[in-house]
Amino acid sequence: MTPTVIATQLCKAYTTAGARVEVLRDVSVELSAGQLTALVGRSGSGKSSLLSVLGALTLPDSGSVRVNGVDLAGLGSAAAARLRGEQIGFVFQAFNLLPHLTAAQNVALPHRRGVRAGATRARELLGRLGLAERAGHRPGELSAGEQQRVALARALVNEPSVILADEPTGNLDGETEQQLLALFRQIAGEGRTVLVVTHNDAVAASADRVLRMHAGRLEAAA
Ligand SMILES: Nc1ncnc2c1ncn2[C@@H]1O[C@H](COP(=O)(O)OP(=O)(O)OP(=O)(O)O)[C@@H](O)[C@H]1O
Ligand SMILES: [Mg+2]
Repeated sequence: MTPTVIATQLCKAYTTAGARVEVLRDVSVELSAGQLTALVGRSGSGKSSLLSVLGALTLPDSGSVRVNGVDLAGLGSAAAARLRGEQIGFVFQAFNLLPHLTAAQNVALPHRRGVRAGATRARELLGRLGLAERAGHRPGELSAGEQQRVALARALVNEPSVILADEPTGNLDGETEQQLLALFRQIAGEGRTVLVVTHNDAVAASADRVLRMHAGRLEAAA
């Protein structure tokens, strides 16, 4: 099977106040459809930086990323934004839901044909994630686990082939975390490519594959 995401020899460094930090050192990785991959490693090892390069949010200093055959380096910012919107779904630890919108409106907002066109799809996704009864609630009226499921529904609204999640269970208790994890497994089972950054052993244990970052380098973990 051809991998959905192919990263080759990624390097990235930041220079802040005269100090140079190499956040990605010669990172190569391939992610395939249907696979749930966990990305682990100590704080500051470069996990979020890698996610942001794979998801076309940041350009590497050198090396290349291809998503479904498209080389991200060749894209202008508008094309990169379009690719992110259509092919990549992001989920973050802090949910990042808009507080004044309902769950359904949050999910429908990034729909490629607009909020109104996305309404049906939003309801369908919320139903699938067990939130049919919560569609009209605002984030402040939802539990943390519910908010993260809304964020997951939002990430899925345009049927992306790739889901990139940065510590999605970081703010959830053990049981809620298991629930969310089962959803990530299900999403990978639908043939999507799923990469989940985690500090949690239970999350890593349930993945098909575990990658470990150490000081900007990627190592396969046992
Ligand atoms: N925009 C930036 N400018 C300068 N340094 C940065 C920038 N972004 C990240 N860094 C540095 O790069 C290193 C890697 O950061 P990154 O956020 O990728 O780590 P991480 O593995 O996600 O850590 P955590 O588990 O704490 O989230 C850190 O040392 C950080 O200080
Ligand atoms: Mg991080």
